Amino acid sequence: MVSKFTWRLFRARLAFEDPRSRAFDRRHHVETAREEPLGEMGVAADAIKRGNNEYRVTWGWLIKKAMAQLDIDFRRYSFIDYGSGKGKAMLMASDYPFKTIIGLEYAKRLHDIAAENCRTYRSADQQCHSLKPILGDVLDYAPPPGPIVCFMCNPFDETTLRAVFNSWRARYEGGEREIRVLYLNMRNIAESARVLEDQDWLAALARNRRFVVLAPKPVSPTILPTPSPPSRP
Ligand SMILES: C[S@@+](CC[C@H](N)C(=O)[O-])C[C@H]1O[C@@H](n2cnc3c(N)ncnc32)[C@H](O)[C@@H]1O
Repeated sequence: MVSKFTWRLFRARLAFEDPRSRAFDRRHHVETAREEPLGEMGVAADAIKRGNNEYRVTWGWLIKKAMAQLDIDFRRYSFIDYGSGKGKAMLMASDYPFKTIIGLEYAKRLHDIAAENCRTYRSADQQCHSLKPILGDVLDYAPPPGPIVCFMCNPFDETTLRAVFNSWRARYEGGEREIRVLYLNMRNIAESARVLEDQDWLAALARNRRFVVLAPKPVSPTILPTPSPPSRP
């Protein structure tokens, strides 16, 4: 539960960040900054609550700060935004040389805006041009084979978040070991502590109040039994 005081502080911070988000949009020829109630974006009434009710853009500086902690060879990895909204994280990820960039969004109108933004985005730093916004529920999605970066900014309720983490764990246990999780919350990632703390297969590579970068714990080498000396005749 987020307290009224925290919400008041957060609202003030949102007002402070809003001009910066709008400046990003003007600079890159896109529209991502405006908040939208999910009920007006094509989400069925019974699915709104599990998507936290509203679309709210992620602050650019926060995405940048979290991305800077990735210790990977970008060219081998697919970037996937779980709950991609209007596509801001996808667009910012495209300034890195990812193999491909995928955005999953269940609100039809937000998905359409993200698709348009992917077409109109202009950045002298853009290095990946394979941007694929997908309309659908994250619960129905299976990522492509190979290394993946899974990005999220507080997009779901606890049940959905847990199900998504379970799907990554199953993938990992099935042998796909190269995975990074970037989990962001513009207030505090502690709001999802119950799910994050259960991920005993993951370790934090970097963390602060608003983001954590997770990677699978190294697999401990199998200890083989010492061979017994050959028996004398
Ligand atoms: C915080 S907003 C998106 C921020 C976005 N990642 C960005 O870069 O600015 C979270 C998004 O998750 C979407 N979402 C919530 N639940 C979802 C689900 N089950 N499947 C797909 N998208 C979902 C919402 O519609 C909303 O657009």
